[in-house]
Amino acid sequence: MPTTEEIIGQDLAHLWHPFTQMKLWPGEPPLVIERAEGNWLIDSEGQRYFDGVSSLWVTVHGHNHPDINRAIREQLAKLDHSTLLGLTHPGAARLAAELVRITPAGLDKVFYSESGSTAVEIALKIAFQYWQQAGQPEKTGFVSLEGAYHGDTIGAVSVGGMELFHEVYGPLLFPVYRLPQPHCLRCRLELSYPYCDLACAQVLGSILRERGEQIAALIVEPRVQGADGIIVQPEGYLTRLADICRENDVLFIADEVATGFGRTGKMFACELEDVQPDLMALGKGLTGGVLPLAATLASQKIFEAFLGEFDEFKTFFHGHTYTGNPLACAAALANLDLMKTNQVVAGSALAIGKLRFGLSHIAEMEHVIQVRQQGLMAGIELVADKKNGTPYEPGLRMGHQVIMAAREHGVIIRPLGDTIVLMPPLSSSLEEIDHLLSTMERAIRQVTEGGP
Ligand SMILES: Cc1ncc(COP(=O)(O)O)c(C=O)c1O
Repeated sequence: MPTTEEIIGQDLAHLWHPFTQMKLWPGEPPLVIERAEGNWLIDSEGQRYFDGVSSLWVTVHGHNHPDINRAIREQLAKLDHSTLLGLTHPGAARLAAELVRITPAGLDKVFYSESGSTAVEIALKIAFQYWQQAGQPEKTGFVSLEGAYHGDTIGAVSVGGMELFHEVYGPLLFPVYRLPQPHCLRCRLELSYPYCDLACAQVLGSILRERGEQIAALIVEPRVQGADGIIVQPEGYLTRLADICRENDVLFIADEVATGFGRTGKMFACELEDVQPDLMALGKGLTGGVLPLAATLASQKIFEAFLGEFDEFKTFFHGHTYTGNPLACAAALANLDLMKTNQVVAGSALAIGKLRFGLSHIAEMEHVIQVRQQGLMAGIELVADKKNGTPYEPGLRMGHQVIMAAREHGVIIRPLGDTIVLMPPLSSSLEEIDHLLSTMERAIRQVTEGGP
């Protein structure tokens, strides 16, 4: 076995980490995560940490769940990989049927890929090509939200709206119409909910009334814009967007990559407002957080626009080498079985309530301007001056300091700027939620108030 120092040496010499300023990386030698048990990660020195970020928002039943592991092993004994180009396999077919069954009504077909970004990319391409083949080829534009995050491939970045991540790629991106971010704390329209009558959603109506014939689709993260800091949309916002899309014959794409599979308290966030999208992107929790698999679901009507004789070339010319990998499908099926058998979504209500109660105390802290929560997704936003809402200087990296302090106390989390994100696994016990909350309070106090 290599020593911790040897692993870190190889890492520092050769590894380029995602979303990481590599100049600073050697200054904070990384934890080497070697094992996991349930909701806990264990490093190479045997230290245990609660996985408060669900290993980047994916873990549903905890790590190394025996049922998911067994399903993968059994699949491995039969078929490791086979392509879906020209062939099929039992797991891909069964999982497609299961996804159609559990997602909102009107989604009938499943197209697999490997990451949330590719699921979104596929949704955008399908929406574009749909209109080309449905007799309205001028409908080529997209509408998305300020502060949106849909992944890192170029199409997903085009509809993304996080300047920090996306601005540099400007010349490579296609233009997109943007809606003001539905963020009531800092309303771009300087209105207040509910008296605003969701004016930020009505902007979509104005755009579509003027240019609807040129717009293919709206894409939105339903209910929660995750990566911009867990921005929870006001009640009714999603329904309003869906209604406006329907009235104007524009497709509604729900990016449920982060919110899907019970994360928001419902199986899918669209259920919170009974919204039925035309296209839906899924990823992250689809395999319970074990293997990379993503899916784009489409309505029958969209699918039919791609049907034709061979030489009409209406085919969706898209597909990845590992599309619908049998091991990943087996993991996803085991995940969905577990979710059903253990009633995981309904069962998460207690943990959600506990989190809400604990966060209401954290919201009172001197440097916490807002806590935002939907289900088991939460953001704690830190500011230098709560009264005036003055943020900290970015160079202070307060969010980063807080997560490093939390690590010392046995919790792994990640910040988004100065918003601390809490994303515990759905399988978290009430004691584990308690540990997460008390550690957060302690770490925030330590960093922002110089407490113990
Ligand atoms: C809403 C949303 N869409 C898409 C993605 C991209 O997923 P992936 O990182 O698997 O490509 C993410 C990732 O966080 C996401 O939150």
